[in-house]
Amino acid sequence: MEQLLTEIDHVAIAVHDLDAAISWYERAFGATVEHRETVESDGVAEALLRVADSYIQLLMPTREDSPVAKYLERKGEGLHHVGYRVDDCAKALESVKAAGGRVIDEAPRPGSRGTMVAFVHPKTSFGTLIELVQEPG
Ligand code: CO
Repeated sequence: MEQLLTEIDHVAIAVHDLDAAISWYERAFGATVEHRETVESDGVAEALLRVADSYIQLLMPTREDSPVAKYLERKGEGLHHVGYRVDDCAKALESVKAAGGRVIDEAPRPGSRGTMVAFVHPKTSFGTLIELVQEPG
């Protein structure tokens, strides 16, 4: 079948202190923040640090009931999800469903940077929370 994944869009890491994490990536790797955004609907503040055509996405919860807050409580800091870039988020999501994958988002929705995104449940993807990311434009 046709390959639907075009790039690793981002690797997302859940942290308690966004500024401390940014500072460490700057000091350890010389990485710089390209974009910062608070996504109210997801209850997260994020910073994107560019690496070639991909990003490291540092994620910090903005409220106690956000999914990332619950994740930190349960598992502590660390790898939260992987974003796979796709040309057509809706098409990729249908393909996941057709392959028997359980999805969190039934349809694509707005993500950060003007992207369209959909999450795939880790239960049917071998323990990894996957975000399908369609770039703007
Ligand atoms: Co993400």
